[in-house]
Amino acid sequence: MTSAKTRKRVLSGMRPTGKLHLGNYVGALQNWVRMQDEYECFFEVADWHALTTDYADTSRVKENSLDVVLDWLAAGLDPQKSVIFIQSHVPAHAELHLLFSMVTPLGWLERVPTYKEQRENIKDKDLGTYGFLGYPVLQAADILIYKADVVPVGEDQVAHVELTREVARRFNGFYPATGGGIYKSAPPPGGSFTWTRDVFPEPQSLLTPAAKLPGTDGRKMSKSYGNTILLTDPEPVVRQKLKTMVTDPARVRRSDAGNPDVCPVGDLHKIFSSKETMAKVNSGCRSASIGCIECKGWAADALVTLLNPMQEKRKKYEQNPRLAWDILEEGSRRASAAAAATMNDVRAAMGMSLDFEAPKPAPGK
Ligand code: TRP
Ligand code: SF4
Repeated sequence: MTSAKTRKRVLSGMRPTGKLHLGNYVGALQNWVRMQDEYECFFEVADWHALTTDYADTSRVKENSLDVVLDWLAAGLDPQKSVIFIQSHVPAHAELHLLFSMVTPLGWLERVPTYKEQRENIKDKDLGTYGFLGYPVLQAADILIYKADVVPVGEDQVAHVELTREVARRFNGFYPATGGGIYKSAPPPGGSFTWTRDVFPEPQSLLTPAAKLPGTDGRKMSKSYGNTILLTDPEPVVRQKLKTMVTDPARVRRSDAGNPDVCPVGDLHKIFSSKETMAKVNSGCRSASIGCIECKGWAADALVTLLNPMQEKRKKYEQNPRLAWDILEEGSRRASAAAAATMNDVRAAMGMSLDFEAPKPAPGK
């Protein structure tokens, strides 16, 4: 077991926008669960980020935050191993966001691909706000306030981590650390330490190996397509959704041979089924000796096997949501302590520490 001091730090987050689906699980959550033993992990419910688009109606934000945490706990995030918290309960994020907003050029934000895309595509909300443009600045504050080394994210978030690195570099350039700088690299054997007097490390994004998870219509599984299988779907719902799932279009009749490599159900098998089942699917589909209904039943079996234990675990928290809330409060306390340490470094580097300092005598006197 590596000790906390030698372990690298991870921070990642999700916006609380409703119950999680299998795509969220394979795309992020499963990876987070695995990282808990190797890294010192911070996982954040980014409720302020949710406000950047949904500021007009905040009635469900809190409920959604609790919901997302239930899914996290059910999937195996462990409060004994990781710090699990809500962004808005650690107000220092807002202070760092403000300071970063001073040094972040507008052009950097206007060039972020997700910004341009969403401005063009989302027409039912007014996204011409200061907060929406500043989304990546807030994300930079989330990451850097914990001096995270590694940020596990999907492809769509890489540009935000890149901007985070640029903000770190610019801040470090303006405001060298006054004490307790960080090592740029490990000292060579027998060699001396190289100090960089930087407040912030530049975090690396860690791309989640993008398992292509199709939804029931064959397109990428996504809430906005309405083609999801939720982590909370009960067995009959999972089986029903599988029944309506699209298959290899070449397999029109039962007697037509198919190809699991071009079938969304085949993709599910590749991700969730055992080698033995996969072998049966491959030979049975290609020789038309199995039907799609049978094949989908096996895929449903694999999903149910995965989801059942999660749903069991979730029950405990559903029956007593206070338990989950306590975990968040405790996590937010631990996160606040880590954030406070960084904010001390930040204020000191900027010459704005909270300590009293006698005024300096005028030069030449
Ligand atoms: N922007 C991320 C998303 O939409 C959520 C997020 C907020 C995040 N803060 C973060 C991800 C910090 C990684 C690190 O998925
Ligand atoms: Fe897809 Fe399975 Fe039908 Fe083959 S048998 S087309 S893999 S559902």
